[in-house]
Amino acid sequence: MKSVGITGLGSSLPENIVTNRDIANYLDTNDEWIVNRTGISERRKAEEHILTSDICAEAAQKALDDAGLKPEEIDLIILATMTPDLVFPATACMVQEKIGAVNAAAMDLEAACTGFIYGIATGQQFVATGMYRNVLVIGGELMSRIVDWEDRNTCILFGDGAGAAVLSPVEDGCGIMTNYLGSDGSGLESLYVPAGGAKRPTCEETVKQREHFVRMNGSEVFKFAVRVMGDASIKALEKAGLGKEDIDFLVPHQANIRIIEAATKRLGLSKDKVIANIDKYGNMSAASIPVALEEAVTNNRIKKGDIVLMVGFGGGLTWGATVMKWNKD
Ligand code: UT7
Repeated sequence: MKSVGITGLGSSLPENIVTNRDIANYLDTNDEWIVNRTGISERRKAEEHILTSDICAEAAQKALDDAGLKPEEIDLIILATMTPDLVFPATACMVQEKIGAVNAAAMDLEAACTGFIYGIATGQQFVATGMYRNVLVIGGELMSRIVDWEDRNTCILFGDGAGAAVLSPVEDGCGIMTNYLGSDGSGLESLYVPAGGAKRPTCEETVKQREHFVRMNGSEVFKFAVRVMGDASIKALEKAGLGKEDIDFLVPHQANIRIIEAATKRLGLSKDKVIANIDKYGNMSAASIPVALEEAVTNNRIKKGDIVLMVGFGGGLTWGATVMKWNKD
């Protein structure tokens, strides 16, 4: 098996910013409540003409540039999203066309907010076995299209964005050390969109009932998140033969600063080892981890040789963690 690492990173964030005050102007909420309960001050909301495939293609192109690769050198595109351009075909195919990755296979992957971790674990297998050399893993979402902007329990949380990583062979002893993935379908109704799929196709009634928007049991998801963020981190570290004390940086899914703080405490980490940008972007679902990772690398916080733990959770329910020895200068 080949060692596999991240050889390029890129992100795309729509320009339009929606602040807490913007939401409080029309909904019964306020900046103080949102900041105290979630850590979020603002989020991005793409203009109407922008597609998930657009922001994913931009992030992907930047990741290719960072890796020094041409689009035709990509063998496979894995796009983690729950806000695809269309029900089918896969948005990954639209990205393939937009970036000119003429030799790439392309598929979408649905693991909600854990999608990027699932994508990394999946992509790694193709490169490790030698079936493919360069795999593009993208997490991209236009959450603003599926949140109910009249529901203060959910609309304050989510934001739009995309992050991409190129997976390629790297020197032995570097790159991805281990992945740990989990799921529990019994928690489906904690976080889901009731209508628009084959179970409940769109009709006048579903639209009237606002069933095409995210439904969430916030406190259930909160408890689940605190538990699995810690458990998944510890299991992934154990698989890698490491302990909590070996972590240089934690890159957690950016869902709620209080969830991140609970995971930080459980792992006994100091705050300077935790990458958090939730204040600026909210929860970008599958995009949150790659965007945070890209920022931390660009700002020279994460450096070659650092042990990086990425951990996420989301609808499904799903969860997962990846441990890496950062392989890139
Ligand atoms: O990627 C995974 C996605 N989801 C998550 O990670 C969500 C995890 N859960 C959470 O982050 C938190 O549960 C929330 C931020 C959603 C809610 O925070 P909470 O501390 O669990 O508040 P709560 O739901 O217990 O609500 C407390 C109060 C309620 O009022 P009453 O019933 O006590 O009078 C809510 O109606 O706060 C009220 N509330 C709000 N007030 C002002 C709920 N949303 C708002 C709001 N502004 N936006």
